[in-house]
Amino acid sequence: MNTLVTVLYIVAFGMFIYGLMGLTGPKTAVRGNQIAAVGMGIALVATLLVPGMSNWVLIVIGIVIGTLLGVPSARQVKMTAMPQMVALFNGVGGGAVALIAWVEFRNDPGYSTHPGYFIVASLFSVIVGSVSFWGSLVAFGKLQEIIPGKPIGLGRAQVVLNGLLLIVAIVLAVVVGMGGTSELLIVGILVIAAILGLTVVLPIGGADMPVVISLLNAFTGLSAAAAGLALGNTAMIVAGMIVGASGSILTDQMAKAMNRSIPSIIAGGFGGSGTAVGGGDDGDRTVKSTSAADAAIQMAYADLVVVVPGYGMAVAQAQHAVKEMAKLLEAKGVEVRYAIHPVAGRMPGHMNVLLAEADVPYDQLKEMDDINGDFVRTDVALVIGANDVTNPAARNDPSSPIHGMPILNVDEAKHVIVLKRSMNSGFAGIDNPLFYDDKTSMLFGDAKKSVSEVTEELKVL
Ligand code: TAP
Repeated sequence: MNTLVTVLYIVAFGMFIYGLMGLTGPKTAVRGNQIAAVGMGIALVATLLVPGMSNWVLIVIGIVIGTLLGVPSARQVKMTAMPQMVALFNGVGGGAVALIAWVEFRNDPGYSTHPGYFIVASLFSVIVGSVSFWGSLVAFGKLQEIIPGKPIGLGRAQVVLNGLLLIVAIVLAVVVGMGGTSELLIVGILVIAAILGLTVVLPIGGADMPVVISLLNAFTGLSAAAAGLALGNTAMIVAGMIVGASGSILTDQMAKAMNRSIPSIIAGGFGGSGTAVGGGDDGDRTVKSTSAADAAIQMAYADLVVVVPGYGMAVAQAQHAVKEMAKLLEAKGVEVRYAIHPVAGRMPGHMNVLLAEADVPYDQLKEMDDINGDFVRTDVALVIGANDVTNPAARNDPSSPIHGMPILNVDEAKHVIVLKRSMNSGFAGIDNPLFYDDKTSMLFGDAKKSVSEVTEELKVL
């Protein structure tokens, strides 16, 4: 039986890695996901075949509850709510790992009959798994707007408090490592790590949430790998390390894309959320409104139009309408490109996924670094539900909370047309001077409706 389990595990690992390779491009992503999911199914069956497996009733109850909760929620979740779903599922993984390490503690009780690596790995799983669970719940709450997206914390004192909590957790872990068997010790570690998870993520502002989610994802993977090491389960080690390594790389890439260091994100304070900034006027600043007809004329006579999609395009599900409008423009000899910011929308690759779904040719999608130099020769930059990723304050205003974050240089285009419903701020909760720029016109309304109206106007031109 052991040989069969090993063979099944190897097949599953191959499928994880092959599936992960599929996730590198939108065309192969769905298939990659399916392959990795089948791999996980095989790993699950193999684990159930491990000799000595018992408590079948409990296992079946667990599988039924998990399936009943997981499948409908994954099927029903809207594309725009996917990041909070990922945060929640990731947190549950971290929580499960912490519980496994607690169960192992109760079995003996304590860890003292085990070798050193078991003790270290289990204590790592308890602390990191618990931090990941509670931190992910806060990230979920912020993205779901149950908790305010703005930083909630004690400022500089927060770093001291978090440091103290970490020290207390480590001291308790050392006591357990030295042979402590009281259950209060392990519960104490779980509780301190839970508070640490809350106090680390609460002070982090909304705009940094993408990086936080992928950091917590990496934490969950690493804690699962550590638990696998303690339990001698290769599947947990391999799957945990794949999640830990890919999550760490993604965290690093996203932090670089936002021009932020991971320690400064953990220290908190970047971006708030959702505060509206009034109507058409802001003090003595005014914005210019335009109509679908004027926007259509402006674009029809352009040489180059750059579409800048953002979260609002996802909310409006405007991607198919955008593709249709672009086809008409191209038929009139206009070159159309799409400028993709790495954190546009609410999850990595959000815009790529939506535009691929609408069959926009992949070679028209240009990453920020590749398109930024083209804005100076762009006749019209058409901003569709994007806000923070176009905010020139990130470049020009050292007092801006997002100063230093790389943006799409939309303000360098000859004309800018912004499609959004109101003057409301974006995810970072801050004003966008681009909207008040002389060369910017606002086309107010739902993005899909506005794009469809522009398309109708283009048809009669
Ligand atoms: P945001 O700055 O969030 O702005 C989106 C804009 O879309 C809003 O100002 C909103 O204005 C508009 N909008 C919403 N629904 C609309 C609709 N139906 N029709 C037209 N417009 C609509 O988006 P962004 O520029 O894509 O920037 C992303 C932000 O999210 C960044 O701050 C980023 O850090 C953060 N974030 C990103 C991720 C990842 S990984 N991508 C994850 C979490 C958070 P109105 O309400 O006035 O329409």
